Amino acid sequence: MGNETIAPLIDSSDEWIRRRCGIESRRRAAPDEDLVMMATAAASKALAGAGVDPHDVSAVLVATMSHRGRATTVAPLVADLLGSSSAAAMDLGAACAGFPYALATADALVRSGAAGYVVLVGAERMTDIIDERDRGTAFLFGDGAGAVVVGPAQECGIGPVIWGADGSGSELLRYDEAGILRMAGPEVFRWATSVVPDVARRALDAAGISAGDLAAFIPHQANLRITSVAAKALGLGPHVTVATDIVTNGNTGAASIPQAMAALAGTTGPALLVGFGAGLSYAAQVVELP
Ligand code: UT7
Repeated sequence: MGNETIAPLIDSSDEWIRRRCGIESRRRAAPDEDLVMMATAAASKALAGAGVDPHDVSAVLVATMSHRGRATTVAPLVADLLGSSSAAAMDLGAACAGFPYALATADALVRSGAAGYVVLVGAERMTDIIDERDRGTAFLFGDGAGAVVVGPAQECGIGPVIWGADGSGSELLRYDEAGILRMAGPEVFRWATSVVPDVARRALDAAGISAGDLAAFIPHQANLRITSVAAKALGLGPHVTVATDIVTNGNTGAASIPQAMAALAGTTGPALLVGFGAGLSYAAQVVELP
């Protein structure tokens, strides 16, 4: 859905939306396409790509903030549709930091031996939780899903997580009485541009590498300006591929990092992931792109 469709509803313009956040278009789920279908489709593709049989999956994690479906949690429904009948299944709520939070959880489950293969999905049907006439959010968010498979390996491809939360800022991104997401955009923007470079540097230190060693920088796709500020603060050189998925996908919450990873298929080497958003929550780690 292009900006021209949304702009008239919020007294905005294609030019303003591009300038303030870099978005040219975003995806909207079809009316009959629910969050479970979206998450299952992404998980199936990830399993096929990894060559892992759904029966061999021991945990399904779904990071999401937009579930308003018929069941209380999404993950058991996804596991059922995948045919992962003996898998543990749970949703993980850390909003736009959900993917790196869930990745750290999957990493810990595999390391401890509590799980073998973990399917980890970030999925959002933001259409269900935004107000199409809210000037602060209607143009920003999109629907999407992305997934990865985490499993035992000779060499660990997931670096130490740096994570945290500041609940004193929870009012900045919250649901109203009707369950609609409301955001204090400029305040969240200011918080994000200070927290992302700091958390990113700490994740690089924890992984024992420097920004110059990175092949890719894949922050949560919140706003292209936030990505640019962070890339500049980290001093990323031209050899580092910076994810700009937001231009065509919008801000897809917990799905934005795995979707951006998929868009960079073919890029190999160390990638820095940084999630941030409602909570306020943040998490970062360096991963080795396969
Ligand atoms: O994913 C979870 C975390 N979320 C984020 O990280 C999002 C963080 N926030 C943002 O990305 C930005 O705050 C937005 C993209 C949401 C908004 O951009 P902004 O530059 O912060 O806009 P603003 O709210 O400060 O408004 C600037 C101006 C105002 O006009 P004046 O007072 O300067 O005359 C607004 O009235 O733009 C006006 N404005 C709009 N104009 C056209 C506000 N919303 C719109 C709009 N269309 N939709």
